[in-house]
Amino acid sequence: MSSKLDHYKIDPIAQTMTKAQASNNCEEGNKSMKELENKTAIITGGARGIGQAIALTLAKEEIKCVISDLDSSMAEVTAKEIASLTNTETVAVGCNVADSKSVSEMLKKVLDKFGSIDILINNAGITADSLLVRMKEEDWQKVIDVNLTGAFNCLQAVGKLMMKQRSGKIVNISSIIGLRGNAGQTNYAASKAGLIGLTKSAARELASRGVNVNAVCPGFIKTEMTDRLPEAVKSDLLAQIPLGRFGEPEDVARVVLFLVSPWAAYITGQIIVVDGGMVM
Ligand SMILES: NC(=O)c1ccc[n+]([C@@H]2O[C@H](COP(=O)([O-])OP(=O)(O)OC[C@H]3O[C@@H](n4cnc5c(N)ncnc54)[C@H](O)[C@@H]3O)[C@@H](O)[C@H]2O)c1
Repeated sequence: MSSKLDHYKIDPIAQTMTKAQASNNCEEGNKSMKELENKTAIITGGARGIGQAIALTLAKEEIKCVISDLDSSMAEVTAKEIASLTNTETVAVGCNVADSKSVSEMLKKVLDKFGSIDILINNAGITADSLLVRMKEEDWQKVIDVNLTGAFNCLQAVGKLMMKQRSGKIVNISSIIGLRGNAGQTNYAASKAGLIGLTKSAARELASRGVNVNAVCPGFIKTEMTDRLPEAVKSDLLAQIPLGRFGEPEDVARVVLFLVSPWAAYITGQIIVVDGGMVM
């Protein structure tokens, strides 16, 4: 017999969630930030810039952080600094996210050390800018390999673990360039737009297992990645920001903290723009 509520049942994956799971997810939202203590987070590309700020912000909430980066010596320095600033266990593990074998090895080390992974921040990213007609195939490929395939490699491996443990938070760092495009960045824009599709699809697949997957799209944030832009480009960009300033890595990090916190329990598959109003 059909019920008056039948027309709400539009998502076949959501229907596989039991009442108990749905109520657990709601209860999670009632918990405080204290619940984050002793959770374990991996931050790819965490040695500097936005990733470093994310790691520091999470470690301040007593989340044990793994600084995973291609540059393992810089990751070591960052991990030591964060551990001494926050008194939270923070370790460095070298990893090239573009290489699935390197990702597996990194995860093995993390599991040997901490036993579980509660939070994954796919932050590692690169640029190799040039106009479309001049872009070398290798520059196209390496940006896709790191920014998109790298996130896929981590998401697939960690997603499996989180599905088994029936909990987890994943945040992918995309970019407003993935939303609006940018001349000279076809490779970067394609990788970041791809990350948005990856986020929404993974969110649908993992929701019934208690895993939330969201993306953050930063605008212009002051890091080494943006430092190298010519001054004329920077002042042109500044004129396009309604809030009248460039973003700080911490502006992004605080949004990531919210997304991995119990307060964001009912948010999944969302793309949160952190750009001072550039894209609206
Ligand atoms: N800075 C911005 O304005 C801005 C804006 C939008 C999005 N983003 C995104 O935010 C993320 C961080 O950017 P950032 O500005 O801090 O950059 P950054 O260049 O300062 O730091 C990137 C980090 O990623 C690491 N990395 C590079 N390739 C890697 C690989 N193959 N495997 C593992 N680690 C690797 C680098 O060693 C570095 O530590 C990137 O995904 C970037 O695309 C940045």
